[in-house]
Amino acid sequence: MKRRNEETGLPLKRETFSTSLTVFFATLGSAVGLGNIWKFPYMTGMNGGGAFILVYLLFVLLLGIPIMLSEFYLGRKTRSNAVGVFDKLKAHRFWKIIGYMGLLSALLIMFFYSTVAGWVYAYVFRALKGDFRFLKNLGLEEARAASEGIFTDTLTGVSPMIWQAVAVLVVAVILIGGVKKGIERVTKTLMPVLLLLIIISAVRALTLPGAGQGLAFLMKADFSALTGSSILAAMGLAFFKLSLGMGTMVTYGSYFNKDNNLMGTSFKVAFSDVAVSMLAGLAIFPVVFTFNLAPEGGPGLLFQTIPLVFSMLPFGNVLLTAFFVLTAIASTTAMLSMVEVPIAILTEELKMKRRLAVILTTSLMFLVGVLTTHPDAVFGTVEVAGKNLFDLFDYLSSNLLLPLGGLLITLFVAYFTKKESIREELTNGGEIGNGKFVDALLFVLKYITPVLLIIVFLNALGILSL
Ligand code: TRP
Repeated sequence: MKRRNEETGLPLKRETFSTSLTVFFATLGSAVGLGNIWKFPYMTGMNGGGAFILVYLLFVLLLGIPIMLSEFYLGRKTRSNAVGVFDKLKAHRFWKIIGYMGLLSALLIMFFYSTVAGWVYAYVFRALKGDFRFLKNLGLEEARAASEGIFTDTLTGVSPMIWQAVAVLVVAVILIGGVKKGIERVTKTLMPVLLLLIIISAVRALTLPGAGQGLAFLMKADFSALTGSSILAAMGLAFFKLSLGMGTMVTYGSYFNKDNNLMGTSFKVAFSDVAVSMLAGLAIFPVVFTFNLAPEGGPGLLFQTIPLVFSMLPFGNVLLTAFFVLTAIASTTAMLSMVEVPIAILTEELKMKRRLAVILTTSLMFLVGVLTTHPDAVFGTVEVAGKNLFDLFDYLSSNLLLPLGGLLITLFVAYFTKKESIREELTNGGEIGNGKFVDALLFVLKYITPVLLIIVFLNALGILSL
């Protein structure tokens, strides 16, 4: 038994990650997820390729890294959850809204995220069973239809609900283990596996005949393909990708070891995350062009294209299994970080036992989430404001709550926090000589990030259309 404070029932010492390497893997585990493997390729495909990626990179630099650092700063300085942070800093209670919105976003994102994670788990199972093997005996047209058929079948009946339950259950079991024995142990073992598998998949795809075209699609910057809405989509993706705007990075930051170099971590995580997205693009687009598919395949790109192609290659079934295993790892480690936000709030603010908090949160996520899993809901019989629940939750979180949360965090850190306190935290009390970077960061946080954010936000509300 851990020693507990008699009054609060909380463990006497708050848990932290053990080393900077495990901090890196846990944080990268949060960032890398369905965003890289499912969203990034299809959004790049739908928005014209390389130019979209360039704009996305710009947002990662001007918005992603500054907000990630603000969240790390708040978390590690106060060693507190996303609501408690503001008490510790003696801020006006208004700011706690950031934490409450984080709670809400965590739920909304989990509702649809766990649905897709369930499909991924189902695909791992199907690949292991060899369900995709017969595709290679068909002509291209037939194979394409068959692959689509398997996807539709995966979304039908009770089985997607069961798979979603499995995905949520895995997350619950890991989280009950806590920060070190749960999150840290799993991410430090699985993230290296994930990185290896994605490199293998990309290398395999790059040796296909359509590799050149795939590469050209990713690299060519055709700026005429960029519209206002694709620029905004790139911003939303940057938020979603780097797990920003809802206190995830505040919560993880509160578990960082004290000698961690926050700037180093944020650059490493952002850079590696972009690298994984690019590798996912490299694994998918050559395949798309080799088989003459349309690059703008939409959300089904991952589920319909990858099986189609990999099953045609030598050792295809092994590759296919590996690819969906890596996607399952990515989605699971990302969900850990999403669910940890409410868990930290419940255990610390309401003094709930960790196990109970995990059970309550994940049960709620499953019960509402399953509404997006049911095919009728996915295909739109339950509609709110012209969107089915799946799209509605995605829209509300990425386009409204995350940018608003990000804006409030930026404003709080840039205008309501002492510069010296930020400098102290980012230089570890003067030990790291990165003063110039801190100056640059403070400038960006004050004048650039909020302006960019306000533009996204006004657009999401439909007040400003670019
Ligand atoms: N970043 C993850 C992905 O790309 C998703 C994610 C995890 C997330 N935690 C988050 C998104 C918090 C927004 C907020 O798939």
